[in-house]
Amino acid sequence: MKIAFFYKSEEVKKILENRLLEHEIVFFEEKLTIENVNKVKDFEAISIFVDSEINKNIIDNLPNLKFIATRSTGFDHIDCEYASRKGIKVSNVPVYGSSTVAEFTFALLLNLSRKINEANKQLKEGGNFEIDPNLEGFDLDGKILGVIGTGKIGKNVIRIAKAFNMKVLAYDVCHDDVFAKENDFLYKTFEEVITNSDVITLHAPCTKDNHHLINKESILKMKRGVYIINTARGELIDLEALLFGIDEGIVGGVGLDVIEGERNFKKGDKLSLFNKKNVVITPHVAFYSREAVERIANTTIENIKAFISGNPTNLVK
Ligand code: NAI
Repeated sequence: MKIAFFYKSEEVKKILENRLLEHEIVFFEEKLTIENVNKVKDFEAISIFVDSEINKNIIDNLPNLKFIATRSTGFDHIDCEYASRKGIKVSNVPVYGSSTVAEFTFALLLNLSRKINEANKQLKEGGNFEIDPNLEGFDLDGKILGVIGTGKIGKNVIRIAKAFNMKVLAYDVCHDDVFAKENDFLYKTFEEVITNSDVITLHAPCTKDNHHLINKESILKMKRGVYIINTARGELIDLEALLFGIDEGIVGGVGLDVIEGERNFKKGDKLSLFNKKNVVITPHVAFYSREAVERIANTTIENIKAFISGNPTNLVK
C-alpha cells in the first residue's frame, strides 16, 4: 500500500519505516493542505496530525484514498462524515497521553499560579534577584478546580488536583459516579461548575454541541479573577469573549495549549492574546512527550496494519 506520512521527526520516521517495510512509505515534512495535495494524489492511505485539515476539498482530491490514520485522539480536523460517504475509514489514537496531557495542564497552571515565566525572565534578562511584587503567586491548596470533561485526561487531572489538596467540581455529559466517589468530588451542572470554580480546565472533545462552550455569557457568570486552562480544543472557547473577560478583569489568568483557528495561523503571526498579562500559550504540544510520541507511533502502525488485514482498529465514528 502507498502511504503518505505528514511527519517531521527523524526518530519516529525510522520506527515507522522499519515496521511497515512491505509498504511504500513517503514522508512529507509539511502538513497536508490543498496546495500540496497533488503530491499524494494516488496514495491509498495518509497519516496526519491535527494541523492537517481534511475537508471535502482535500478528500475530493484524493481519489484512491481508503484510509486516514490520524496520530491524535481528537478527530475534529477531519470531515469524518464525508470520508465515510466516500468509503474512507478513519482511525485515531484513543489512548496515549492521558497522564501526558494532564501533567501539561498542571504545568500551565503552576506556571501561572507561581509566575514562573515572569520570574525566569526577570532573572535571565535582567540578572535581577529582587522579590518583585509582580512575582507574587497563589496556592493551589484549597482552591476549587472546575473540570469540564472527566474522560481519560480529565480523570488524571482530578487525581493530580487531589494531590494538591484542591477541591474538585466536575461537569460531564456522562457521569462516572464510582470514580467520583473514589476521588471525593462532585458532578455539578455546567453553570454550577463555572460559577463556583477558582480555576476551570477543559478536557472535552470539540463537537458541534460544545463549540464556544466558554463564551461571553458563561464568562460573565464566572468568579472574578478566575483562571482558565485549555488543553482540549481551541474551538471550545470563543476567543473574542476570552479577550473581553481578560480586559474586564473577570478572567485573571489563562493557560492555553490550543487556540481557536490555530490551524490557519502562519509562522510569525501575532495574536492580541500574546500581549496580555497572565496569559501563557503553547503551540499544541501538551501531547508531546518522549513516551507519548512512541505510544502514538506504535498505535498508528497497529492501526495501519489492522486496516490492511481487513480488521481495522480504533475507527472513529
Ligand atoms: P475522552 O473521550 O476520554 O474524554 C472526553 C470526555 O468529555 C468524556 O467523558 C465525554 O463524556 C466528555 N464530554 C463530551 N462532550 C462534553 C461536553 N459538551 N461537556 C462536557 N463533557 C463532555 O477524551 P480524552 O482522552 O480525555 O481527551 C479529551 C480531549 O483532549 C480530546 O478530545 C482532545 O480534543 C484533547 N486532547 C488534546 C491534546 C493536546 O495535545 N493538547 C492531546 C490529546 C487530547
